[in-house]
Amino acid sequence: MDLIHGEGVSELFQGQCLLFKHIFSYIDSMSLKCAIQLGIPDIIHNHGQPITLPELVSKLHIHPKKASCVYRLMRLLAHSGFFTKTIVHENQEKEKEEEAYTLTPSSRLILKDNVTSFLPYVLAMLDPVLLSPWQFLGDWFQGSEFTPFEKTHGKGFWDHCNQSPEFNNYFNEAMANDSLLMNLVIKDYKPIFEGLGSLVDVGGGTGTMARIISETFPHMKCTVLDLPHVVANLPDSKNLKYVGGDMFQYIPPADAILFKWILHNWSDEECVNVLKNCKEAIMGKGKEGKVIIIDIMINEEKDEYDVTTTKLLLDAVMMVLLTGKERNQKEWEKLFLEAGFSHYKIVSSFGMKSLIEHIRGIRNLSARLGLIGLGLVLRQTEALRGTGYQLRNGPVFSVCTALLPRSPELPQEVLA
Ligand SMILES: C[S@@+](CC[C@H](N)C(=O)[O-])C[C@H]1O[C@@H](n2cnc3c(N)ncnc32)[C@H](O)[C@@H]1O
Repeated sequence: MDLIHGEGVSELFQGQCLLFKHIFSYIDSMSLKCAIQLGIPDIIHNHGQPITLPELVSKLHIHPKKASCVYRLMRLLAHSGFFTKTIVHENQEKEKEEEAYTLTPSSRLILKDNVTSFLPYVLAMLDPVLLSPWQFLGDWFQGSEFTPFEKTHGKGFWDHCNQSPEFNNYFNEAMANDSLLMNLVIKDYKPIFEGLGSLVDVGGGTGTMARIISETFPHMKCTVLDLPHVVANLPDSKNLKYVGGDMFQYIPPADAILFKWILHNWSDEECVNVLKNCKEAIMGKGKEGKVIIIDIMINEEKDEYDVTTTKLLLDAVMMVLLTGKERNQKEWEKLFLEAGFSHYKIVSSFGMKSLIEHIRGIRNLSARLGLIGLGLVLRQTEALRGTGYQLRNGPVFSVCTALLPRSPELPQEVLA
């Protein structure tokens, strides 16, 4: 056998295995979609105990000739971690052992009636409209279109949402369910929101996240800003209202601006424009304001391999569907500095997402370096700790000096 570049036989076969794995990786997605279409996770859940293959087959609405294929689908999905195989006994005498399936945390996330179900997200992301642009990725690199999505469909992703009500509903529901999952962590970050009189959730979709915040903080006036077709006909409630608009044009003034899963949809230039609008919005109120960002941050050194893989895949999704990207800390930092914020703090990470916070300066000053430690807003003087700034001429003046937006006089340490 001819060995390529002097590699050993085993390396060569290993290489071939990786190659095949990549060629057929789409089957992971498609078999998951198939399991959802057949209702398998819900059947297992409703069964209330591990389900054997014959029991599962008897509950599926499939052609009798396909019964044997169910085992192969289940074997693949169990191998991928969506189901666990366990041994049960067929009768009371425990004579015959049989394999049975149970759910895992991942398949529990795609149960239909689970409030935090990701089922709409799976179906939205695996919609043929979103998959077809991948066929043109190579062509797109050579052409001038903004995105492969636009190259394929002749319009941008958000225009497609606007023009296809069914897809729009799926997508908004998918996003809303992700926000419901955030409900599990938001209680741990209460201090970030405490004391705020008003908040605008920019690109807040149908308002799930803002509703959670408005219910947790009944005195806070919450606004959801999203495209008109997303918020049309959504009813305002006591302290939650909807505004149809374009964040590139105008962001309503508030004590805090929230961006959850927004900035990763946009290019650096677009993000800087929005962040500048955002700075205007929190400066208009004359008191301390902040920007809260919940988004993905690539951190290859710290993250587990699978988490990084997922983030890199999402980065490619951003490239194909939108003009956005997933950023590492340095790349995020560059955006903040270009928009005129002088400091930021990564508050925490949960799953794939990180929470980043900026705090605006007091009085007439613009973006102040803001530090927050696990949701606790630090007092102005404490905010200087670890930034490289020294207090000079008394706390207020010093803080004010430190709070100035980025300028040629700003010592570089604060940017580090
Ligand atoms: C990825 S979704 C995130 C939704 C929500 N923040 C969440 O995490 O569930 C992005 C949202 O940005 C909205 N959007 C897109 N372009 C916008 C614009 N120019 N102004 C305001 N919202 C916009 C979309 O309609 C969509 O609801």
